[in-house]
Amino acid sequence: MQSMLRGKHMITTQEWTKEELETVFDLADELKRQFGLNIPHRLLPDKTLFMIFFDNSTRTRNSFEAGMTQLGGHAHDLSPDKLQISHGENARDTANVLSRYGHAIGVRHTVFGEGNGYIRDIARNSRVPVFNLQCDIYHPFQILADYLTIREKFGKNTRGLKIGVSWTSAPNYVRPVSVPQSLILLMPRFGLDVTLAHPPEFRLMPEIVEQAKKNAAEAGVKFETVDDMSEAFRDADIVIPKSWGPLVHTRDKKEGLELINKYPGWICDEKMMELTRKHSIYMHPLPADRGREVTGAVIDGPHSVVYDEAENRLHVQKAVMALTMGGRP
Ligand code: CP
Repeated sequence: MQSMLRGKHMITTQEWTKEELETVFDLADELKRQFGLNIPHRLLPDKTLFMIFFDNSTRTRNSFEAGMTQLGGHAHDLSPDKLQISHGENARDTANVLSRYGHAIGVRHTVFGEGNGYIRDIARNSRVPVFNLQCDIYHPFQILADYLTIREKFGKNTRGLKIGVSWTSAPNYVRPVSVPQSLILLMPRFGLDVTLAHPPEFRLMPEIVEQAKKNAAEAGVKFETVDDMSEAFRDADIVIPKSWGPLVHTRDKKEGLELINKYPGWICDEKMMELTRKHSIYMHPLPADRGREVTGAVIDGPHSVVYDEAENRLHVQKAVMALTMGGRP
């Protein structure tokens, strides 16, 4: 399996088989154990990852950079203003050149209608694996960390668990749809029943929802979309309430913010959590908007696993890097 993953891009989990993803999770468990015991695991000595961030990041940037150091390699923290991208150099030239210097290229580009196309262009022109550090459509490493966290909390057999993915209001900026879209694609494949809740203007990309339904049908699990937040929370084992923009409805920023403001009641509070199962976990990819997306009592309360979830970014990303950048020659 490892030899087959060498050189493989991670742009969406949909392009990885379940068996390949199980390999990632198993290796992530092992690397997490070694990290905890301070056992060196320099699986990528002298290897270089180039990271190009078109947008801000705390978790993705630092977990990839720390991860490469722990694997014995190095990550370059780049942004368009540090590169000739700022003078119009195209993806073909950027990818061809960087992939002759190092061993993987990661890109975060979340502009709706542009990000994924740019990353695909980089991948087409790269001779090394390309990692999607979040685009307008997918956030694969976040969702891999989410599933690793769920697996740790509930055990490896996650069939029959209910996950509620709900929109929340946070009118300070328009967030991408990549997290909920990646969640609804991956979770059914591992046997989870998915309830997706959002107001009508916040629908996700139709082709992604269709694929999620197909994944659910193939796995023999439930997938439903509702317009009532409480339905996502009722009897849920896992809830992931977060804000996203009405980008499928409108790309106009002002109109987007007005629509987010239209639904201030969509907040995850203790009353909402009471609808979930007693042992339920509250997850959020962070950064979270305390007071608008979620109350402090919930995110800092007994159901919350947000820091375990953030930590798991490190372990799962190291697993993907080790398998795709190293592996058997
Ligand atoms: N969850 C996540 O991707 O966080 P950052 O934006 O800080 O990388």
